[in-house]
Amino acid sequence: MASAATGIRFVLDGQVVEAGEIAPATTVLQYLREQLGRTGTKEGCAEGDCGACTVVLGELDGERIDYRAINSCIRFLPTIDGKELVSVESLQPKGASLHPVQQALVDCHASQCGFCTPGFVMSLFALYLQASKPGPEAVVHALSGNLCRCTGYRPIVEAGCRMAEYPTPAHWSVKEPRSAERVARLRSLQREGTLAFPGFAAPRTLEEFARLYEASPHSLIVAGATDVGLWVTKALKELPPMLYIGEVEELRHATTQGADIVIGAAVSLADGYGEIVKHYPMLAELAERFASPPVRHSGTLVGNVANGSPIGDSMPILIALGAQVHLRRGNQSRSLEMEDLYLAYRKTAMQPGEFIASVSVPLPVAGRFVATYKVSKRIDQDISAVCAAFAIEVRDGRVAAARIAFGGMGPIPQRARKAEAALVGAAWSRAGIGAAMAALAEDFTPLSDMRASAAYRARVAANLLHRFHLEHSGTSTPLRVESLAVG
Ligand code: FAD
Ligand code: FES
Ligand code: FES
Repeated sequence: MASAATGIRFVLDGQVVEAGEIAPATTVLQYLREQLGRTGTKEGCAEGDCGACTVVLGELDGERIDYRAINSCIRFLPTIDGKELVSVESLQPKGASLHPVQQALVDCHASQCGFCTPGFVMSLFALYLQASKPGPEAVVHALSGNLCRCTGYRPIVEAGCRMAEYPTPAHWSVKEPRSAERVARLRSLQREGTLAFPGFAAPRTLEEFARLYEASPHSLIVAGATDVGLWVTKALKELPPMLYIGEVEELRHATTQGADIVIGAAVSLADGYGEIVKHYPMLAELAERFASPPVRHSGTLVGNVANGSPIGDSMPILIALGAQVHLRRGNQSRSLEMEDLYLAYRKTAMQPGEFIASVSVPLPVAGRFVATYKVSKRIDQDISAVCAAFAIEVRDGRVAAARIAFGGMGPIPQRARKAEAALVGAAWSRAGIGAAMAALAEDFTPLSDMRASAAYRARVAANLLHRFHLEHSGTSTPLRVESLAVG
């Protein structure tokens, strides 16, 4: 039965917590530590970077619960209404033994000062619930959003590889996601109508969301809050009333429809990229190097597009593939080529009261080579200095069509039209791409900042086109990041 409760409610350790109507920008971390006295979850960076605040969030998914690690420091409490929260304290109920994840960390000597450890426990716990016996690669990926300053990662990764070898615990075994009791409890919290209280509303239908936003265009749309959360925790901004898009049922799906992959505005980065990578496996590296699993579980792909950062990673490849954005304002809908969404630095073509309902990405075309390259100082959890994307069709040794887009090279994510023009009709050879490499200097005038100098950006952009050619001309095999091997 649907709940008609007025305030925020969520499940914690089998009990329903009634948080009521609190300040909407209260983070899950603040609520855990300050209201519930659960201080096991730590605050390190307060910006989604270090993983000390990692908790696990369970969401109803049919007859099971999908448990995923998230960063509690930038997630607003009202957005976990109707969900199950698992904090590090949940893993060892009073009188119980340590959970296998915790015991493995102890046995592998995988903690020193211990400040980061609850975060590692929770990221590994989310993995424990999913995988029967994860290998080092899966463990390293699961931990790519957790920083440890003193232990070193080898024993931590070893613990992750060994945690499945321990006896099945009485609490939180791998069967929990399908526990009928847990599912029923969570189902009882689901609501049909909008959760609304001063400063916050979470409509359930697209029509209601569009109506509310048109009526109140100065509201702030909040999706995963992986950008917006930092405006509060780092910029100390007072936010306007929030309109949460994450509960709009029609926007919670990523599917393939006809010739397109369609990704709704409430779809997480993890699920959105998951659907794209099914069709474009060459984009798997970008999907894994985009932020970290906890950020990808909260943040949305459409939020990345809407935020329109010049260094955002999704836009170059989506623009190169010819993606469209589908906008909605009240009862009106329209679609734009994604490249036409961006007008100037942080300025988009969206009108007041208009929002992105979904993006659609054309399916692969036979004979078209596709790749995207992210250049950053670190492999994991880093922002791009330059992000390049190429979609180039070659027929009979000549370029028949070319779409190239870059992030980090100007004030908006942008196509390299002069380089594209230089390529079309040219031979698909080192000599043939030379003019396009030179033309990139006419397409962009990059800036110098803390991530890279203008000269570096210009050089690397041209070199990435060279690399793309090498990887797609039969003269070289693609370079891939080697995963960490654990002995
Ligand atoms: P929110 O933060 O909820 O919203 C962002 C903005 O978009 C807001 O202005 C909001 O009003 C608007 N908005 C959201 N949805 C809509 C909509 N449907 N219609 C209109 N406006 C909307 N980004 C990268 O590109 N690459 C990275 O590697 C990367 N790493 C990160 C690492 C960390 C630690 C963090 C915290 C962030 C990182 N980001 C990165 C940025 C961030 O994760 C993305 O921009 C994210 O996709 C934003 O989505 P969201 O759902 O969290 O949006
Ligand atoms: Fe660092 Fe949340 S406190 S990620
Ligand atoms: Fe000290 Fe990881 S054990 S930061």
